[in-house]
Amino acid sequence: MCGIVGYVGRKDAESVLTVGLQKLEYRGYDSAGIALLTNSEIVVRKKAGKIHDLINDLENNPLPKSDIGIAHTRWATHGGVCDTNAHPHPSRSGIFAVVHNGIIDNYAVLKEKLEREGYHFQSETDTEVIANLLEYNYLKEKDLLKALVRTVNELKGSFALAILFKEDPDLIIGVRKDSPLVVGLGEGENILASDPVAVLPHTKRVVYLNDGEIAFVRRSSVEFYDFNGNPVEKEVKILNYDEEDAEKGPYPHFMLKEIYEQPKVLSTNLERYVRSLRPVLLRDLNLRKLLLNKSRIIIEAAGTSYHAGLVGKYLLETYAGIPVEVEYSSEFSHKKLVTDSRTLVVAISQSGETADTIDGLRHAKKHGLEVLAIVNRPESTIARESDYVIYTNAGIEVGVASTKAYVAQVQVLTLLALELANVKGFLTEEELEGMMRHMEALPEKVERVLALDAHIEHIAERIYRSTNVMFLGRGINYPTALEGALKLKEVSYIHAIGYAAGEMKHGPLALVDNNLPVVVINPRSSVYELTVSSTHEVTARGGRVISIITEGDMRMAELSTFTVFVPDVPEFLTPIITIVPLQLLAYYAAVLRGVDPDKPRNLAKSVTVR
Ligand code: G6P
Repeated sequence: MCGIVGYVGRKDAESVLTVGLQKLEYRGYDSAGIALLTNSEIVVRKKAGKIHDLINDLENNPLPKSDIGIAHTRWATHGGVCDTNAHPHPSRSGIFAVVHNGIIDNYAVLKEKLEREGYHFQSETDTEVIANLLEYNYLKEKDLLKALVRTVNELKGSFALAILFKEDPDLIIGVRKDSPLVVGLGEGENILASDPVAVLPHTKRVVYLNDGEIAFVRRSSVEFYDFNGNPVEKEVKILNYDEEDAEKGPYPHFMLKEIYEQPKVLSTNLERYVRSLRPVLLRDLNLRKLLLNKSRIIIEAAGTSYHAGLVGKYLLETYAGIPVEVEYSSEFSHKKLVTDSRTLVVAISQSGETADTIDGLRHAKKHGLEVLAIVNRPESTIARESDYVIYTNAGIEVGVASTKAYVAQVQVLTLLALELANVKGFLTEEELEGMMRHMEALPEKVERVLALDAHIEHIAERIYRSTNVMFLGRGINYPTALEGALKLKEVSYIHAIGYAAGEMKHGPLALVDNNLPVVVINPRSSVYELTVSSTHEVTARGGRVISIITEGDMRMAELSTFTVFVPDVPEFLTPIITIVPLQLLAYYAAVLRGVDPDKPRNLAKSVTVR
């Protein structure tokens, strides 16, 4: 939700900042803007629209050269999408310019106070209030650090800020509270950003700000302070991403690239978490005692990660015999917790920065519960604040619609469930080994599904003009139906809804007619026959069935208008093999409808607002 970047160094700041913005575009793309400090003046250029609109504008009408500046890509919260509401926001007299990621809850009160002091506002944003409040405090305090301390303590809400100060051409200020911020340490240059991906082209040495910290970033030094103005010592970390992770390479879109990376991601986790046909998560990460002491698990997550949680529930209950509830983080974080210390909270998140999921984890910790995070991004807030962490190792995921991160989450949950089942004596060594052999064969089987790409594109050509699509699944593949529907709606804007196949007859069947494509996920499993019956209910009412089924299944094929045959896998692995064709279906439907699947309207990859 909004990406911010700041640069001070020797290079051309405009190009460093616009490249940085492109790396952060997944965080929002309603508008973009840049402020440079040049000849003791702050110059601002900002525009509604995507970053390339801003870049075109800068090419046609260049700003003066500078080696220091800040920039922003916006996902609108307060105020509509227009040039005026775009960031950066200068303060009244132009001594400060501010970019902001987050929401200021008390901005209306602060705005009134400033209006009484004679300030006028150009935009409807909460960010302009920050810029003017800082100016007001600076004019009173006559000391920058004191003014900042006063300002940040007056703000309520979440805010990562980058600030340009007209009186100091060697200074970018960073502030963090409840929205991420990282400083990249270069040689004679330093860069500030919402996400290390924007820092990666310049350096791998970074310092993560914690909540309640301020950074004074200069060309050859960085100083950190807390919100009382006291100096803070920080640890330098080394990023272990490859820059090419954040590049599209030969693929037209990140979403397609990331779908195609799934076999590699599955293999990586097998290398990390399996030895001699044994999952070693509990052993290597010292989780054995923790899991054995718990009698109940609550999974909290949002979006696609929530769907991975639903698969996890099925696996943990079925194999490890532990009751699991799965909650949307946005609900969980406001709930009264009826728990005891034998309850483990598991927070699942790709980014590790989803505000709702962070709130859920803090809510759990406040109630004395231990939290295990299943997270993709190292050093993210969720990874750092949880008691225990399992990384999903999917690499940088850029496409707004999560694909490879989902498959990695499901895989890690599967390994966790099986290892726990074995430790508890519910699975013998032989049973576990047999299951792990199937798991090791999975990357190659997913490759075989990817080879069906052209066939799935052809199916997409038949459905992309539909206004509604229904997805049905049962048991362990009910979450697959939910996730398949979410993928389609978020990238193609086709209304799509997932149902538990058995629930059809209790209402949704009324929607079925000969215009409705119904995607039925029915690989070989313990609920196969029941799902065949649900499919009959659909075809009897004229519904057009697209089935995701096991190779050789002619019974389902005969009921279907289109079929995608996936390789045979045991039931516990079906969610991984069946989601891949649905990701491709959503991708091609988006492309055929002329939507950029990497940047669907109104969405952002990392939702750092509540
Ligand atoms: C956003 C993204 C989704 C993602 C969800 C949760 O809504 O668009 O793709 O599933 O956030 O994100 P997380 O990073 O916590 O998994």
